[in-house]
Amino acid sequence: MDKVKVEICCGTSCYLLGASELVDIELRLSPDIRGCVEITGRPCLELCERENIGQAPYVRFNGNEIMCAATPEKVMARIVELAGEGGSSC
Ligand code: FES
Repeated sequence: MDKVKVEICCGTSCYLLGASELVDIELRLSPDIRGCVEITGRPCLELCERENIGQAPYVRFNGNEIMCAATPEKVMARIVELAGEGGSSC
């Protein structure tokens, strides 16, 4: 099963609005979940320039799902959900 792909925007707007709290999220995940996820930092995802999309910081899951106003708790919860949807063996 494919890993859950998580892209954390590290552009200026997102970083200033809280992405700095997301960069070590992988270390907070349990070891079994950590093996099911691929977390990367990205330059500006160009979402901060769009209207009506919500507030930064932004995180993108599996290339198409956007989370606005991302917090470590929200991101970790979504990772656990997506990893569970992929089956217990990832
Ligand atoms: S700085 Fe994050 S989307 Fe632009």
